[in-house]
Amino acid sequence: MIASHVDLTPYNTFGIQVFAKEFASFSTVAQLHKLVNSNREKELFILGGGSNILFTQDFNGLILRNEILGKEVVQEDETHVYIKAGAGENWHQFVLYCIENNWGGIENLSLIPGSIGASPMQNIGAYGVEIKDVFHELEAYHIPSGEIKTFSHEECAFGYRESVFKRALKGQYVILNVTYKLTKHNHRLKTTYGDIEAELSSKNITTPTIRDISNAVIAIRQSKLPDPKEIGNAGSFFKNPVVEKSVLEKIRINYPNVPSYPVDDNHVKLPAGWLIDTAGWKGKRIGDHGVHTKQALVLVNYSDAKGQQIYDLSTAILEDIYARFGVELEREVNIL
Ligand code: FAD
Ligand code: EPU
Repeated sequence: MIASHVDLTPYNTFGIQVFAKEFASFSTVAQLHKLVNSNREKELFILGGGSNILFTQDFNGLILRNEILGKEVVQEDETHVYIKAGAGENWHQFVLYCIENNWGGIENLSLIPGSIGASPMQNIGAYGVEIKDVFHELEAYHIPSGEIKTFSHEECAFGYRESVFKRALKGQYVILNVTYKLTKHNHRLKTTYGDIEAELSSKNITTPTIRDISNAVIAIRQSKLPDPKEIGNAGSFFKNPVVEKSVLEKIRINYPNVPSYPVDDNHVKLPAGWLIDTAGWKGKRIGDHGVHTKQALVLVNYSDAKGQQIYDLSTAILEDIYARFGVELEREVNIL
């Protein structure tokens, strides 16, 4: 059933109030097919959990909310389990389900909001792990033809917060399900990133399980990222920029302690949060919106901000960071 003039406030974690001209949910491919076929002339938008979107205006088309559920082990061998999950399943609940079954590989991605279907879109990542590390394949519905295609790892063209679905095939496919390849034992734990080791040792954990790592990641995230149920946000607003080493050297003249991560012989990744923080934006509040007090990479809506105001703030930050450091930031959040 298609609803008209739907308030999207509960459907985006920024909590921005805009209206969709039309809105419908689907939980089967047949329903999706019917909705697409009878609304071809309209602008369509596929919505998951709404945790990586900034609405700057009302949406003048049809929003299709993916609610395809289901989890199924499709293949198993001595070392690995291949588990297929419906695109509408909640990501964090899925992570907890895998930990419950002692299947390893996604524990570092605990507490990321959103859906299974969006996880390959921007190759979600945190604490040293990205979806590409555990991805096996996905099935997606081709909007123009109605055909279902299986995408291999290679065909998804994963990069840092990137995939083919954000680039060459943007807007063409609805991801229906994703199959992940997880370890059954001898899990390859990634504990060296960031504060994970410190968090584990504060709990006197020397031989961590995947559940210990998940708990550590949850604790670290809760200490710096705002909970969208309390303060509207979409996580990191910008990507961490990859720059030439010469740019880093220039910044080092004034800021000898600038953090950086090696990418290749000529490039490094800079933490955008550090740049924005160092430029003095952290905690800045303008009326109802601003920059989070504990993480400068996160823009927030305190109650009734407009999406355009948050977008304008992001533009002011982009311009300032370029003027100060000669570094161009790129927005990570999808702007609508
Ligand atoms: P949505 O916001 O609904 O959609 C995002 C994009 O994907 C849209 O373009 C949409 O059209 C498209 N899309 C969604 N579902 C489908 C589908 N089934 N088929 C085709 N296209 C689809 N991200 C990280 O990578 N790492 C983090 O650590 C992280 N931390 C976060 C912390 C917080 C507090 C918040 C609010 C966000 C964070 N994010 C993080 C961003 C976000 O959670 C992820 O990008 C997530 O995968 C978005 O899922 P979603 O279902 O909410 O997608
Ligand atoms: N930093 C500051 N000030 C700040 C924020 C960060 O100086 O206000 C510095 C930190 O001290 C640290 C560095 O910047 O040296 C990196 O900070 P952090 O570890 O918090 O991670 P991040 O680079 O800001 C990235 C991802 C997050 C992911 C975390 C953990 C991007 C764009 N963001 O954040 O993903 O959870 O690492 O792996 O890559 C998201 O995509 O929405 C997201 C939250």
